[in-house]
Amino acid sequence: MKRVALVVPFLALSLAQAQDLPAGKGKEVLEKVCQDCHGLDVIVSQHATKDEWTSIVDSMVARGAGGTKEELSTLVDYLVKNFGPEKKLGKVSVSPAPSSHRR
Ligand code: HEC
Repeated sequence: MKRVALVVPFLALSLAQAQDLPAGKGKEVLEKVCQDCHGLDVIVSQHATKDEWTSIVDSMVARGAGGTKEELSTLVDYLVKNFGPEKKLGKVSVSPAPSSHRR
């Protein structure tokens, strides 16, 4: 049992880095277009309105990001839905940890 406890956190960490993205249309575009120059962590740590995401994506395209117009508008919708301003830290309610490990 001890060995399992040691291994699992590393596994969880690498999974989180590789694909901790919400499902949805736009996820593939994000993975395809947006990780040439930096990690996706740069993106998923942001929270922005639709206007802000539109201009971020525009500026990435100006820097050389690919994608068709349709792909990019799908992507903006995806970003607004999953990384919109309403999910800013501080408004997220954290539920208290369950005290289930008592004997
Ligand atoms: C051609 C290279 C390139 C591609 C492709 C690219 N980016 Fe960037 N991105 C950059 C650079 C350069 C920075 C600045 C990094 C820094 O300051 O450390 C950046 C920074 C960012 C930031 C941080 C905020 C900011 O404005 O500095 C976000 C968010 C971002 N990119 C989103 C995206 C998204 C979404 C995509 C896919 C549409 C994307 N990037 C694709 C080059 C790129």
